[in-house]
Amino acid sequence: RTRTTLSDGTTIDDLINIETREVQLRAISDPELYDIEMRKVFGKTWLLLGHESEIPNPGDFITRLMGSDPVLITRQKDGSIRVMLNVCPHRGMRVCTADAGNAKVHTCIYHGWAFKNDGDFIGAPVAGEKMHGDILPKEKLGLTQARSHLYGGLIFATWNLEGPSFDEFLGEMKWYYDMLFCRTDKGLEALGPPQRFTIKANWKTACEQSASDGFHTLTLHRWLGEFAKFGDGDLTTSMYGTEVSSLQGHSLRCMPVANKFKQAAGFRDGNLTLEEKLAIVPPPGITKEMLPELIRNLSPEQLGLLVDSPPQVGGMFPNVLIAFIYVPQPDGEIIGLTSLHTYIPKGPDELEFCNYILAEKDAPEEHKQKALQFAVRMLGTSGMVEQDDSDTWPHITQTAKGAAARNITMKYQAVCTTPPRPDWPGPALVYEGFTKDDTQWNWWLAYRELMNAPA
Ligand code: FES
Ligand code: FE
Repeated sequence: RTRTTLSDGTTIDDLINIETREVQLRAISDPELYDIEMRKVFGKTWLLLGHESEIPNPGDFITRLMGSDPVLITRQKDGSIRVMLNVCPHRGMRVCTADAGNAKVHTCIYHGWAFKNDGDFIGAPVAGEKMHGDILPKEKLGLTQARSHLYGGLIFATWNLEGPSFDEFLGEMKWYYDMLFCRTDKGLEALGPPQRFTIKANWKTACEQSASDGFHTLTLHRWLGEFAKFGDGDLTTSMYGTEVSSLQGHSLRCMPVANKFKQAAGFRDGNLTLEEKLAIVPPPGITKEMLPELIRNLSPEQLGLLVDSPPQVGGMFPNVLIAFIYVPQPDGEIIGLTSLHTYIPKGPDELEFCNYILAEKDAPEEHKQKALQFAVRMLGTSGMVEQDDSDTWPHITQTAKGAAARNITMKYQAVCTTPPRPDWPGPALVYEGFTKDDTQWNWWLAYRELMNAPA
């Protein structure tokens, strides 16, 4: 562990005070911190880059950002996936300038260096002259490779070649994430390319909120109760539940499905079996026909939690929001949405909001269309919910620069004191009752750990 110090002598530990559980507001948009974050957080940890269903065929590619680094993600002949730096080793030009496509060879437009879709250097137009590929060995001229991992078809990568495995990175939270991402035989697919838009806000404003800030729902999203009649019209009930989290900074909010629906469906009847309950309220994205798959892929404890108190929103450190939402319809049908956002830093004052909408491959087409429609209405670029959230982030980014405001602190002292239910079936840190600050504080602890580690 090193002591990361800014040019005025302030340390990370000064900014994030573990005694008082406070974070100096300056930590949000200090430009000096941003460069350290790119190296120590985004240069080190596992990052979500997309879903393999975006590149189904050999030669397919997408381009994304890993922190501030552009990457090229390609499907190989053998079906595997490569993630590599999309930067030409000749003079640093971006090699592939498209968002997506199919190509056997990627040629840099500057001087024509060409690369196979696995990143190996092929050659440069030499016109009979000895330029490159003879002077230096070809093996030294390929694109820099990242370490990648597929999880439920989601593409993750890291520059930390010797660091923790992806499973170590998820830690105990994997038990919960498996319930969302690894629950059917064929897994998830992306319903089209992600929606993307830019917000004038620092990435941390969106990401510490994604670490399961349930408290803001009651005020910032109060229309959800008053107008959309979520939570039977009273959002207070959705403030209660169980929050799970880990010191890696990941978290989820597990909340009971709307009581009104469960009561109407005879859910409270203690004689119902797990299968019968699942058939009454299948988890988001699962139809009754798909239930045997769900039962095959998850343990009885995971299924029990899905019925009783499913994860509905949360985050994956450092920059992913997970939304796993039940949208009850007037006719009693429940539309389920699975959506993931990545908040990609684009400088200290700007982020790119990238919204992936996912469905189970095995779901009927009609179900996928409804899920897509509701995800577009609710979340992301055109959605109603995140217009609220994304209104606060730019304000915080700006206030954090004030000569006086930068020295005030954000407060995380609301600590859960209720012990976990004795029958809670899952691992990790468990916080029971009214939503508190614990999960977001754990996000800051994970951030602090990386910011204090060697680059
Ligand atoms: Fe790519 Fe020169 S920078 S070929
Ligand atoms: Fe919100």
